[in-house]
Amino acid sequence: MSHELLDLILARRSCKSFTDRTVTQDDITAVIEAGLSASSGMNLQSPVVLCVTDRAVRDRLMVLNRKYDFRDRPDPFYRAPVILAVLADRKVGTYLYDGSLVIGNMLLAAQALGLGACWIHRAKEVFQDEEGQAILHEAGIEGDYEGIGFCVLGYPETLPEHPVPTHPGRVFRL
Ligand SMILES: Cc1cc2nc3c(=O)[nH]c(=O)nc-3n(C[C@H](O)[C@H](O)[C@H](O)COP(=O)(O)O)c2cc1C
Repeated sequence: MSHELLDLILARRSCKSFTDRTVTQDDITAVIEAGLSASSGMNLQSPVVLCVTDRAVRDRLMVLNRKYDFRDRPDPFYRAPVILAVLADRKVGTYLYDGSLVIGNMLLAAQALGLGACWIHRAKEVFQDEEGQAILHEAGIEGDYEGIGFCVLGYPETLPEHPVPTHPGRVFRL
């Protein structure tokens, strides 16, 4: 592993405050490509990505996400303008792991491009909801897909400090 990549991994932080600045299509595509390049069980590539930049659809997803958030927050997406929802095919045994790795790659790609990104939870609930199902239908996503997570993207308003302290006692050796 090059030191550059290692440094990037160690410096990555979740962004929880975004500006309104538009993210270029090239950058969005690069993040998605990095996600879809993730390893997958038996190379079945079960995850799909719903890329949302349309403000109205973004807000529909935000309202839905808030519906399942036990915390009372105005915007669980922190005003991020781009929402990359990752879903994966339940029929594939490794779908949950495959989808998670897609989001992991996206978070790192965003960091490499100078963007802010954060994994936002509750995609499973959002896409089980009737309104979430309607959004999938509008996007042409049909099948037994489960929401794995949202990777929200944008330009950071504030950047968290790094590196993040890792909890001790999590490595065991023989
Ligand atoms: C599976 C998963 C779910 C997460 N869900 C949320 C979420 O719903 N809202 C949020 O603000 N952050 C969420 N995060 C981000 C974590 O809160 C964040 O990664 C953690 O605080 C550590 O910070 P770091 O990413 O900067 O290292 C999630 C992260 C993961 C991996």
